[in-house]
Formats: sequence, C-alpha cells, structure tokens
Amino acid sequence: MDDFLELCQLRQRCRGFSEQLVEHDKLVQCVEAGRLTHSGCNAQPWSFVVVENQDMVSQIALCGQQLKQNSWLGTAKAFIIVLEEHAVLSPVISCFLDSQYYAKGDLGAATAYICLEAAAQGLGSCIIGVYDRKKISELLNIPAEKQFGSVIALGYPSNDIIRQKKRKAFEDIVRFV
Ligand SMILES: Cc1cc2nc3c(=O)[nH]c(=O)nc-3n(C[C@H](O)[C@H](O)[C@H](O)COP(=O)(O)O)c2cc1C
Repeated sequence: MDDFLELCQLRQRCRGFSEQLVEHDKLVQCVEAGRLTHSGCNAQPWSFVVVENQDMVSQIALCGQQLKQNSWLGTAKAFIIVLEEHAVLSPVISCFLDSQYYAKGDLGAATAYICLEAAAQGLGSCIIGVYDRKKISELLNIPAEKQFGSVIALGYPSNDIIRQKKRKAFEDIVRFV
C-alpha cells in the first residue's frame, strides 16, 4: 500500500467475518503497529492481550453482545484488547499534569494503528464500544482495576464491499489561516 489515504479509505468497521482463522503472524504485526504508536512523553501507557484461542474468542464475543446490534460478534476470529498502563511522564511535564493525562488519547492512537495495520493485511476489524469489562477481565486474568482502552474484533471480512465513508464535509471541519 503506497498511499496512506488509500489505506484510511480501506479501513472500515467490519460487522461479519468469514470462517477463515487469522494467522498468528498477522496478529503479531497488528500488535507491532500498536507498539510503534506515538504517545505523550513516549510513556507508552499500554499493553495488549491477543485472544486467538477459539474457545476463548467465543467467550469474549459473548461479553460484547450486550447490544443486540453486536450479535454479529459471534463471527469474530480474534480480539485484541488494549489496556491502559501507568504512564511515566517526563519530570518537566509531570509537575503540571496527572500521569494518565495523555493516556486515553495514546490508547486511541494505538487502537487506530492496529486497525490500520489489520486493514493493510486484508483483515477486517471493529472496535467494540459496549462490553462486560468485569467478565472479560475474569476470563483473561486481567486485574479488576485495569482500565480498558479498547476491545477490537478481528477476522477476514465476510464480503469485500468497500463502503463510501460517511464523514462531515471537509470544509465544515477545517480552517486554514
Ligand atoms: C470507540 C468506538 C466504539 C465503537 N463501537 C462499535 C460497536 O459497538 N459496534 C459496531 O458495530 N461498531 C462500533 N464502532 C465502529 C463505528 O461505528 C465506525 O467506526 C464508524 O461508524 C465509522 O465507520 P467506519 O469505521 O466504517 O469508517 C465503534 C467505533 C469506535 C471508534
């Protein structure tokens, strides 16, 4: 993929995955993209749990089906869970800001990198907005107090339709001065 904007167009939320399993190496590549993400003070306040065991994938999928609209989650073949870790900010910054001040944005960026890398590899992805954090934490031995950045469902898309992006008009969201 030569053109980054082309990749941005290609990356789209996927609500239905084929039977094909995701290769371990592709999941490693996705995490590598997350690891390479920028962060405030380079604090890298993240860790990643990759769920590829299919029994566990099914159980995690159930934790995300509180919303009826997410019933397709049963077709997911893998999950990457982005967790928030303690951020050590540089001393000149930490006297002004709480240690976690940048963390949410950093985790959002890491999530975006993961989804873009997934798209570059022909995978579909969907970030899940509503899920049973307590249950997922129990299933994956994640400390109960740990904050989640995101839960990302992955797999090969069940169709190859690239949808037109619905976005605010360029001129409505930007001002050049
Ligand atoms: C924080 C967040 C939570 C989301 N939660 C869900 C969800 O629970 N179910 C779903 O189908 N899509 C979910 N999405 C996908 C968005 O609806 C989707 O990214 C948006 O409509 C833009 O479409 P696109 O990703 O195809 O460009 C979520 C996206 C984000 C960033």
